[in-house]
Amino acid sequence: MNIIHTISALRQQVAHYKHDGKIIAFVPTMGNLHQGHLQLVAMALSEADIVICSIFVNPLQFGEGEDFEQYPRTLEADAEKLKQAACDIVFAPSADEMYPQSDADGWDQTQVIVPGISEILDGASRPGHFTGVATIVAKFFNIVQPDKAVFGEKDYQQLQVIKQLVKALCFPVEILSHAIVREASGLAMSSRNGFLSNEQKQQAAGIYKILHSTEQQILDGRRDYALLEQKAAEFLNQQGFVVDYVQIRAADLSPPIEQTKNLVVLAAASLGSTRLIDNRQISL
Ligand code: PAJ
Repeated sequence: MNIIHTISALRQQVAHYKHDGKIIAFVPTMGNLHQGHLQLVAMALSEADIVICSIFVNPLQFGEGEDFEQYPRTLEADAEKLKQAACDIVFAPSADEMYPQSDADGWDQTQVIVPGISEILDGASRPGHFTGVATIVAKFFNIVQPDKAVFGEKDYQQLQVIKQLVKALCFPVEILSHAIVREASGLAMSSRNGFLSNEQKQQAAGIYKILHSTEQQILDGRRDYALLEQKAAEFLNQQGFVVDYVQIRAADLSPPIEQTKNLVVLAAASLGSTRLIDNRQISL
């Protein structure tokens, strides 16, 4: 496995693969890898000849007062895990490499905006977040030139933003998604779970519990979505969370109507200073 830090070195390697007719799958991450990430890599391996995984904590997608500085950076351990997982290339650029500073103007301000879907739910609470995600993913797609890219359904809204980005800007990349990988308790795996104490980790499984129970109630025929959302938020409040939202949406994240068959229940809530998100997809 090769660890590459510069765009030019990665481009050279990609050119060789393309010349040899290899199918390339790309898995973008911010590192501190867990089983969720590694399952995306396994899916990529089953779908392509070559797997390229990026590790980059993207400053552009963190807002002021968010955890950019604290975000865990564990490149050595991550590289070892990726080697075991049979990943071909780790692309781990510096911030300067991805966002070069020009002497006169500071940061290059070019950004990719996916309007509408970037402004609701997490985008409402984290203004600019999805523009940061869309911008870095567009840059990676142009650098890596993958045939396929794998994203996790854990970040459900992010996945919809990426699908829209690919469609709108005509990227020749097939977007694949992987189901949420969970702990035995139901807690969705996340690099941010490392910020939680053992007690908070047990508490955090409450998000899965209430999403699962809401899903069951919908499958049992309940359609009073506003009340279900309210009850779920109350449960999380009682469990010690500060709730950002619990929302029942159509699969495309529009508000559901009676006839909507594919739904998703999404929640975002904080325990202490750690913000957690999770979701359940429901087919009626
Ligand atoms: P990161 O949070 O590191 O996640 C990288 C990928 O792993 C994303 O596609 C995410 O949805 C997926 N993932 C994380 N936890 C998962 C879990 N428990 N089950 C399944 N998939 C999981 O998402 C980002 O990084 C960044 O926004 C990025 C796309 C790399 C752009 O900077």
